[in-house]
Order: sequence, then C-alpha cells, then structure tokens
Amino acid sequence: MSFKLPEASPLQRSDFLFGVATASFQVEGATTEDGRGESIWDRFCDTPGRVLGGDNGMPACDHYHRWADDLDMIKSLGFDAYRFSIAWPRIEPESGVWNDKGFDFYDRLVDGMLERGIKPYATLYHWDLPQYLGERGGWVNRDTAYRFADYADRVTRVLGNRVSSYATLNEPWCSAFLSYRLGIHAPGLKDDRMGFQAAHHLLLAHGLALPRMRDNAPTSEHGIVLNFTPAYPETDSQADRAAAAYSDEENSHFYLEPLLTGHYPVAVAERHPEWMPTVYPGDMDAIAADLDFLGINFYTRAVITASGENDYDGVPQQAAKTDIGWEIYPQALTDLLTGFKARYDNLPPVYITENGAADNTPVTNGEVNDQLRVGYYDAHLNAVDRAIQAGVDVQGYFAWSLMDNFEWAEGYSQRFGIVHVNYDTQVRTPKASALAFKAFLAAR
Ligand code: FCB
Repeated sequence: MSFKLPEASPLQRSDFLFGVATASFQVEGATTEDGRGESIWDRFCDTPGRVLGGDNGMPACDHYHRWADDLDMIKSLGFDAYRFSIAWPRIEPESGVWNDKGFDFYDRLVDGMLERGIKPYATLYHWDLPQYLGERGGWVNRDTAYRFADYADRVTRVLGNRVSSYATLNEPWCSAFLSYRLGIHAPGLKDDRMGFQAAHHLLLAHGLALPRMRDNAPTSEHGIVLNFTPAYPETDSQADRAAAAYSDEENSHFYLEPLLTGHYPVAVAERHPEWMPTVYPGDMDAIAADLDFLGINFYTRAVITASGENDYDGVPQQAAKTDIGWEIYPQALTDLLTGFKARYDNLPPVYITENGAADNTPVTNGEVNDQLRVGYYDAHLNAVDRAIQAGVDVQGYFAWSLMDNFEWAEGYSQRFGIVHVNYDTQVRTPKASALAFKAFLAAR
C-alpha cells in the first residue's frame, strides 16, 4: 500500500525532500546522564496534575542510547532527512557551563546521519528550557533571549556546516501562549501580558541568534518553525468571519508578520494595546532578519464563533477526528499556504516541518494497521500538492513523528509515530503508515 498523488506531482520528484521529525525531550530519555541539567519540562512533569498519568521524560524512546538503530530505521524506510532537536540542558547544564558530553552526543548523531546519507535538520529549541532560566522568569525575562543566542552560537560552532538546516525555535506560539497564557505547557502560567511578552522575547532570541548561526555555518540553511491552526468562521455571519480573522491575527500573524515585515499586526495592537510587549529599539529589525526557509507545522483547523465570552471562541466539530480529538481537515493546509503567499510577498521557501496524526492502534500479531494515519497522510500530502500547483514554493515534508513518544501534557497516552514503540521493551514496530511511506519513497 502506498499514497496516491496526481501523476507527475512534484512530491514524487527526487528533489522534493521527505523526512521524519522528533524532539529531544520527547524521545531521548537519559534525563540524568552525562551531565544533563534539569529542564522546565522535567520540573513540570514532577508537578502533580500537570501531565497525564504523571508521565515524564523517562524512558521515552531511549533514543539517547538507541540512536544508531533509529538512524538505520530512518534509512531503511527511505527518508532523505531527519529533523531532531538539541537539548539545551545537555549543552549548558548550568548557566555558562558548557558540557562536552552533551556536544558529543549530537556530534555522534550528526555524523551518524552523514554516514548513512541522511540530511541533518536541527532545531535548537523544542521547549526544554534549562530550569535555572525558568527560575529567572523563563521567556518573560528578556535576558533569556541573550542566553539563547549564546547557546545557539556554541552549538553551531561545533556542528557547523555538517547540519543541512538549522531552525532556531520550534513553535514559539506554544512556548509563549500555551505556556504563559493558557497554562497548559511548562511553566503553566495564565497571563495574557506574559504570553505576549514571552512571544516577543522568543522572536528576539531567534533574531539575535540568526547572524551568529550564519557566521558559524555559512553553507547551512537558517530559519524558524511556526505552528498554525487556521481559523474558519462557524457561520457566514459578518461577526463570525471577523472573529475568525482576528483569531488568525493573534495566533498566526502575531508570529509570522514580525519575522517577514518587522511589525506586529495592527489588528492586535489596536484591539489589545494593554497586551503589547515591551520592545526595545532595534528589536524589530533583528527579528525581521532574512530567513532561508519557513518551517510550518500543521495538524488541524479551528472553527470560530463570535458569540462566546471572548474575542473569539472555538466550536467543537462533529467531523472526523484523530485519537487526540483534533479535526481532520486537510484543505486548511492548502488554504494556509496559498493564503500566506497572497499576504506576504517575501514568503521564503517553505518546509512542512511537522504533520501527522494521533492514531493509537495497538500491535496485533506483530503488526500495527493504523489506517486512520495512512488516510491522514494521503490526504495531507495531496493538500501540499495542491498548494504547490497553486504556486507556493514548498521544498519538503516531515512526518511527525518517526516513532511514538512523550506527547507533552498528554504523556505517553497519544501515539503519533509511524513506528510503534513498546515503552517496556523499547521494541520498535513499523506501522502500516511507515510501510506506506517506504513504498511511496521507493517509487520516486
Ligand atoms: C507539535 C509539537 C510536537 C508534537 C506535535 C504533536 O505541536 O511541535 O512536539 O508534540 O505537536
């Protein structure tokens, strides 16, 4: 079984890049080994009631020890690239202390990819902030942006041009709004003003780091990864349409617009001046530094009503959903990409850096028949194809995730992998979706 795309789809050309993605805290395990320091997610997991089932970063997928087998698996499935992230607390376990053993792990991992002909796509920050920075206010503290730039400098000095592509941040919307505004991710605070200030400091961190990364790795690509859950009005009423549009300003364009134009969206600043972050002279120029690529993570859409208590409120849908409860709506990915191209004349080349489904189908007789996930990937690859046909420059696509892993506040309850992981034995079983990718990639 494989995926079905239109004949001569650009996704079937060998220059279209296919990869799989993971993130350090979600797969590595080994949280106390080789001098790794504590992260805000270790602390959050230890806080009762925060993570489903009291789960934590152990054992995860024990990728810290099993990385070589995992790279073999990526190779045998036929993927071109591996998107992984670097754990800041392994590199800088205490403020200003640089841990050789932490660097060594990523050195081995990157060389292991190169030996196998897999392109390394590194993300410098996928949410595991060192706990000592969390204690100083985390991303609400401006100083964290400068600390990030120093860390990014060190890592890119060591890994240099061996890494094909560096992303500064993964999903700053989550690191800011989900973490400081909505209280769902570490550190679990609920304050609008803090959420917007954290967003600004994350974007600033990106902007401060970028020129140093370019100096250290001049032939690598440098960019950022944002997540989008595009909003659709529940009805065709003027009020619902305006509420949905405003939701996109706050949640999508508040992150993308400053990167591409050097300004925060006027719609947000006008409606909520009291939430606007403190910005120093020069910040916006740093944030708007040229990007080689924009990484887009897409899972689902939101349906919005104006008739709730807030500026906009989500309306649960009766439609088909993945096991985590997210609506399956692939056309939103096409609309998102074509909409960005229409709004921003300097939209950089795009990679879909994450896309995938929670499908908790268990192992039966040594197989995992995850048909929901197979259908999800088929539909979303076609959605990307339609966007490319409409003129959007999409260079590659990464499945989230290579394997089942620690799904943040959901613990180990939600499985996003194309490869099943048994957390007791660490046995990996490629699912039907992995085999569909393998067949698809082999046919290119
Ligand atoms: C994204 C995260 C990724 C994973 C997926 C399901 O928001 O970047 O780590 O948890 O969701």
